[in-house]
Amino acid sequence: MSNYKKLDFWSLKAQNEGYPARSVYKLQEIDKKFGLLPKSHGLIKADFKILELGAAPGSWSLYILRKLAGRGFLAACDLSPLSRRTDAGLFDGQNFFFKQADIFDTDTQAEFTALGAFSLILSDAAPSTSGDHGVDAARSAEIAKAALLYADAALRKDGGFCVKIFQGAETAALLKEARPKFKLFKTFKPEACRSSSFETYVVGLGFKKIS
Ligand SMILES: C[S@@+](CC[C@H](N)C(=O)[O-])C[C@H]1O[C@@H](n2cnc3c(N)ncnc32)[C@H](O)[C@@H]1O
Repeated sequence: MSNYKKLDFWSLKAQNEGYPARSVYKLQEIDKKFGLLPKSHGLIKADFKILELGAAPGSWSLYILRKLAGRGFLAACDLSPLSRRTDAGLFDGQNFFFKQADIFDTDTQAEFTALGAFSLILSDAAPSTSGDHGVDAARSAEIAKAALLYADAALRKDGGFCVKIFQGAETAALLKEARPKFKLFKTFKPEACRSSSFETYVVGLGFKKIS
């Protein structure tokens, strides 16, 4: 399948299924492979809390809230607002909190940390691309490191972690830092990623809470 057709397929599917972005299918695939979220909403306990960094326009948030079906809690952050086109009121739910803010901001970090402890921390946050692969990868690594700091501060023991990275010169050091923190640690590139993209996802399960 050509890249164009692939893009068209995922974008169309997202439109039909009421998601503002095709990126939802990356999370869906990661979730299916690694079981990030409980399979049935009946298994979701009231203290099942998720932190999502880089949430706009909101496809991942919608996917999660649809799965939570009113249970648990999702806290999400982005520089940009969420799209309200297809949320059908889910973004007004009691089990959802969104803040338009920078994840590097220390007050924001304190605010989100206080909402934990989280069972799962996700980040699909990505820098605006500059066209310079090295610069973009370095910025993406900074975001991933910030996500790891959120995990150190607010991820529960045995919690899950999934973070997007743009592969580059900093990747090896980042993986070396993150790997020992989890019982299972993998990198995974979902089908829905454009084949030309140098993004991949780092998935950690069974957080050891050692730092
Ligand atoms: C690929 S989009 C996320 C898409 C989202 N997962 C979805 O399915 O709708 C990446 C997002 O990261 C956000 N982002 C990048 N740097 C950020 C930062 N420092 N703080 C908060 N959000 C950030 C961008 O604003 C952008 O909305």
